[in-house]
Amino acid sequence: MKISGSIALVTGANRGLGAAFARGLLAAGATKVYAAARDPSSVTLDGVVPVQLDVTQPEHVATLARELTDVTLLVNNAGISERALLLDPSSVESLYRQFETNTIGPLRLMQAFAPVLANNGGGAIINILSVLSWVTLPTTGSYSASKAGMWALGNALRQELKAQHTELLAVHSALIDTDMTHGVPGEKLAPADVVQQALAALEAGQPEMLADPTTRAVRAGLSAQPPVYIGADA
Ligand SMILES: NC(=O)c1ccc[n+]([C@@H]2O[C@H](COP(=O)([O-])OP(=O)(O)OC[C@H]3O[C@@H](n4cnc5c(N)ncnc54)[C@H](OP(=O)(O)O)[C@@H]3O)[C@@H](O)[C@H]2O)c1
Repeated sequence: MKISGSIALVTGANRGLGAAFARGLLAAGATKVYAAARDPSSVTLDGVVPVQLDVTQPEHVATLARELTDVTLLVNNAGISERALLLDPSSVESLYRQFETNTIGPLRLMQAFAPVLANNGGGAIINILSVLSWVTLPTTGSYSASKAGMWALGNALRQELKAQHTELLAVHSALIDTDMTHGVPGEKLAPADVVQQALAALEAGQPEMLADPTTRAVRAGLSAQPPVYIGADA
């Protein structure tokens, strides 16, 4: 899909990777970028159209899909990451929260915007996943499960969306330098670097973008025995 001339909706666009996506899309020639945030007044980037969206609220999603009828590119970026030990019963609440935000919210957005994208010629969806879709650390089991769930749903949706000529790109990355990884040690990618790679992958029609050597090694090692592990959160 060509970025130039596209009309994008980016979730969680007030900060971190989402703000970098909004900036990168404008720089790449997007005609309009809807910058969605729980609090639209927290969107400070010039040139975007702030809109309100809490991805866990189905009525917010439905309202936006009714109002933003010109969208050709949906970027499912909003996400949360919570640490929890799965043997602790309270981790179930954390699991629900992360599935609501990282898995079910993006699924609702894809369901609601699929007809909009179809009406506008097909367009594309970018889902922001993680290297932790495929590996986990002791405290990231629930985050990993939410991203693995979104990966599986996306793989199925890519096939469903083919009939309406909508492409779906899954972006997997290790650590990115945002608030989410504040205080987490390790080498981090610049958000703008991830965005640039993602937009190039979308223009090339790829189904998956692996942003860094760690992610590529983990993906390549999925069939290894014992499994490949990584040393840092993402
Ligand atoms: N940072 C990394 O190392 C890394 C690596 C791989 C993948 N990712 C993924 O990249 C995406 C962006 O993360 P980030 O690193 O930019 O994190 P971040 O700096 O913590 O930003 C998270 C964004 O998601 C928004 N958000 C959270 N819950 C929301 C909800 N219910 N409805 C709408 N927006 C919501 C936040 O909005 P508020 O300001 O309202 O909280 C914020 O804009 C996430 O999907 C994350 O899982 C991150």
